Amino acid sequence: MQNIPHIPVLYREVVEAFSDIESGIVIDCTMGYGGHSSMILEKNPNITLIAIDQDQTAIDFSRERLAKYGDRVSIRKGRFSNVIKEILEEVDASEIKGLLADIGVSSLQLDQKERGFSYESQTLDMRMDKEAPLSASSVVNEYSQSELEHILLEYGELRNYKKIASKIVQNRPFSSAKELSDTLKSEMPRGKKIHPATLLMQAIRIEVNDELGELKSLLHSLRDANLNAAKIAIISFHSLEDRIVKQEFAKWSKSCICPSEAFRCECGNNHSLGKILTKKPLMAQDDELKENVRSRSAKMRIFQMGKK
Ligand SMILES: C[S@@+](CC[C@H](N)C(=O)[O-])C[C@H]1O[C@@H](n2cnc3c(N)ncnc32)[C@H](O)[C@@H]1O
Repeated sequence: MQNIPHIPVLYREVVEAFSDIESGIVIDCTMGYGGHSSMILEKNPNITLIAIDQDQTAIDFSRERLAKYGDRVSIRKGRFSNVIKEILEEVDASEIKGLLADIGVSSLQLDQKERGFSYESQTLDMRMDKEAPLSASSVVNEYSQSELEHILLEYGELRNYKKIASKIVQNRPFSSAKELSDTLKSEMPRGKKIHPATLLMQAIRIEVNDELGELKSLLHSLRDANLNAAKIAIISFHSLEDRIVKQEFAKWSKSCICPSEAFRCECGNNHSLGKILTKKPLMAQDDELKENVRSRSAKMRIFQMGKK
């Protein structure tokens, strides 16, 4: 087994969240390097785990890492928006007792320069699944100026998105992330602790992997699945993702779904899917922040499905 290339974030909080699950199925939607998966398998000896990832490198690594758990683990390759639908057709929803999604990229994806996620990369790729049709090169070199403006504003929250989009269009084609970030360096926000090109890279990556669409689709599948006993834990690293999770959980918890202008309740007032377990998101404690910088922006929200 090679060295483990990714430290799982909020590991204590994840283990604690699932500690009361005695049996049944737990789904890890973002297996990555198997950190959370192996902790859950260790701490919950009677559960079986279905683990999903779209990255073949992560799957090859974790297949070996999790082999010792035998048939307690099954690994699926694909985008979780699709795989979750297949799983929900195959298994009895009441058997699903936990689900984790640790959204975003892994440290290894960021560190392997040939994957194109870093602003120093000599490629322009950023696909978590190397076989996916859309790469960063298509986004940067083929999107219209207004499409680029949209992703820079929405996913990168870059204030001078118009100027950056215009400069991309004037200077393309680009063949590497390094070339792109060097060309745009002067337009990037300064004075923060992050590299100036980080938000640009983030915006392109979110588009390439449809990260917000994936999260929304997952949450909608879970809402409609009649999961009457599952604990849903979502870790996000970006305020846009956290907002999506927060708003969706708030909708799930509502008993009355009448329009706000209704004079009195006519919906039956029994629509709550369960309860929010984290009023505020859980965040890394000081010791974790010291050992893993990635944990600094991680936020976990948990929802308990089931009308009790
Ligand atoms: C932050 S890492 C997860 C790390 C993991 N929890 C661990 O402890 O090693 C995110 C992983 O999820 C995968 N991923 C992200 N979005 C995905 C999606 N929509 N479908 C499937 N896998 C996805 C990435 O390929 C990456 O390996």
